Amino acid sequence: MAVRGLLSFTLEVPDLDPGIRFYSDAGLVADIRGDTAYLRCPDQVRPSIVLVGGAPRKRLHHISLCADELDGMAVAVARNGGKVVASPERFEDGLWVEDPHGMLLQLVDEAPDAPPSATGEAFAINAPGRIVRHGRSAILPKASYAPAKPLRLGHVLVFSPDVLRSVAFVTDALGMGLADRSEDIIAFTCTKQGSDHHVIAFAKSPGVGFHHASFQVNDPDEVGRGGAALLEKAKRGDWGFGRHTIGSNFFHYIQDPWGSWFEYYSDMDHIADYAGWTPTNYSLEDSLASWGPGVPDDFVHNYEADEAPFQQAAMRQTATA
Ligand SMILES: [Fe+2]
Repeated sequence: MAVRGLLSFTLEVPDLDPGIRFYSDAGLVADIRGDTAYLRCPDQVRPSIVLVGGAPRKRLHHISLCADELDGMAVAVARNGGKVVASPERFEDGLWVEDPHGMLLQLVDEAPDAPPSATGEAFAINAPGRIVRHGRSAILPKASYAPAKPLRLGHVLVFSPDVLRSVAFVTDALGMGLADRSEDIIAFTCTKQGSDHHVIAFAKSPGVGFHHASFQVNDPDEVGRGGAALLEKAKRGDWGFGRHTIGSNFFHYIQDPWGSWFEYYSDMDHIADYAGWTPTNYSLEDSLASWGPGVPDDFVHNYEADEAPFQQAAMRQTATA
């Protein structure tokens, strides 16, 4: 009985168009049906993001996970402070549960898309006494590169009013594992077999909400190129290029149209078998990054728990500047 992977997340948003534009610029492929946009990685079949338009403001609707033994999971959910609930209107498949804070999760007993396969030259770094790239240039002229291509949705980070309780729920009820944490401020959870370092992460906030989704690209250079290109198009906040301590991934975050974030990542730690992993409790100075530019003021601001959504807050700042 365990979660095997992350499938997608669904946001309610006021208008579809800015979201479709933003995520298309990020390299996802949009399929629009009525008031709903399904956004998938170019080489995948399943959507990674579902946007449902017409809401008063952006809000996390639910996260979809693949899991097995759903009957046993339903029992474990009820025993660990969660609740099995009816399928929301228009979303039918699977086991629907609320975590102890009311965050909605859909669990389906289905296989995820196949993992991306290796393409092109391996990322290779020449180092003192370790020359591994011979007779070729690491970097080609800019025009040689296609736009960044997200390969798969790697993880989401959501806000939680009680991070350790959220962790206890996904570990005890959903069969996930605590990868690492930083006190009770931020925590990272993984699946038990063949997992990225984190699949769902939690950051402390007065309420639940969506913070960011992270998409894997081929290598650190594509994180850098993709982040710079999306920033140029979106003209919003960003954080990166940098490297996280917890999970070790290179990152570049670009702010989405509603104040939450899109991340390109590469080279995350891998947990082949959770039985061999020991979680670390990092100090707060290691909670965000090993290195990188300064963190934007609103990087960990939960606009879903705020009275005013992101756009109105931005307008307020402009008016008082
Ligand atoms: Fe991330």
